[in-house]
Amino acid sequence: MSTLPSISSPVFIHELDRDKIAGRLERVRERTLSLVSGLDWQVLQSQHIPILSPIVWDLGHIANFEELWLCQSLARLEPLEAEFAKMFDAVLNPRPSRKDLPLPVSRTRWDYLSRVRTEALGVLAELSGNEATKLLAGGFVYEMVAEHEEQHQETILQLLQVLESPPYLPAQRRLLPPGRTMPESMVLITEGAFAMGGSGRAFAYDNELTSHEVTLPSYWIDRVPVSCAQYLEFVEDAGYNRQDLWSEVGWGWCQETRVSAPGNWIRRDDGWWVRHMDRIEPLRGELPVIHVGFYEAEAFARWAGKRLPTEAEWEKAALWGPSADRSRLYPWGDSAIDASRANVDQLAFQPAPVGAYPEGASGYGVEQLIGDIWEWTSSDFEAYPGFSAFPYEEYSKIFFGSEHKVLRGGSWATRPSVARGTFRNWDYPIRRQIFAGFRCARDAG
Ligand SMILES: [Fe+2]
Repeated sequence: MSTLPSISSPVFIHELDRDKIAGRLERVRERTLSLVSGLDWQVLQSQHIPILSPIVWDLGHIANFEELWLCQSLARLEPLEAEFAKMFDAVLNPRPSRKDLPLPVSRTRWDYLSRVRTEALGVLAELSGNEATKLLAGGFVYEMVAEHEEQHQETILQLLQVLESPPYLPAQRRLLPPGRTMPESMVLITEGAFAMGGSGRAFAYDNELTSHEVTLPSYWIDRVPVSCAQYLEFVEDAGYNRQDLWSEVGWGWCQETRVSAPGNWIRRDDGWWVRHMDRIEPLRGELPVIHVGFYEAEAFARWAGKRLPTEAEWEKAALWGPSADRSRLYPWGDSAIDASRANVDQLAFQPAPVGAYPEGASGYGVEQLIGDIWEWTSSDFEAYPGFSAFPYEEYSKIFFGSEHKVLRGGSWATRPSVARGTFRNWDYPIRRQIFAGFRCARDAG
């Protein structure tokens, strides 16, 4: 399609401005520490569920990643602790095994984090600003380290939301806007090409690159995510007991786990209740359903006479528009996320009701694409055309393939920088501790 713009020279979020970089790293760290500061040792050291690390491992891993990139890669400094590179390597240590590591908890918790930071800021101060390396171009490596820590904050929140005795008590909490009545509706996205992937106008991971043209036939997509009220109908219609609604592998999972409702739903004599951190409240039909796995999303869609959108369909509905000639950074345009447009940044501790963000609508009028819940798509996590691993293969390349499904859009627990329109998340279809829900699509015509 000749109308698509070509990629111009990248303008990343952070040029090599030392104060800006130091401030960015500092604010990220403040949030990390504020999330965990009220927790006692026992909670920090324990592995609460096998698929999530002890929080002290996450903290050590955050520091080790920063040391690897900002101290060792940039300045060839020696490791502060020789054994930490292996101990905090996410690939060498699968999640269930991390509780068995000799985690040096007393030092790791605060001291290693701050020692690395001091060293990293020392390296930053020594940079001339004229280094012509791809790692430093536009401050790439600093934004990568900041976003890596922010992504681990969300992982830590996955663990905090399963704590039960005592439950996690947020130190601060942001109020959410009310929803609005949303008659069930779908939006028609007309056939045609669009530019998918990062265009170079904002920071992007390797797996978001490069911008490439994708042509889609017309399709319908839900205006808002599937609500708890809609999902409850599926539950009450014996959705979990009807094999015809499930894929073969999904049905096997359903039988094996004997799951019969989303995570954190609690059946009581007086109906369904739902837990969000320390709050247990009667099920609110207007909230997007959350803590469902891919197989459940797929079964619901079949029950509703629909299907899940592909990743490309999600992105076109989010970032393109009826008369667009280039993709937006966010559904509403290129301006940054604010509280009137999306529920991100962790401090609400739950999704907002459907219909809460009309100002966050995309060019096609699709709403709540960013924030509240990650949205399962039907797509496997695969490389875009022209993919090149940078700066390391373990971020995304080793995860490409049919084992992982792509999720898009960020959740309430995602930091604003990460919740950009082209960001690609991926996970196993069985995962339910992540903050994921979905919306449906269907073929047009
Ligand atoms: Fe990591």
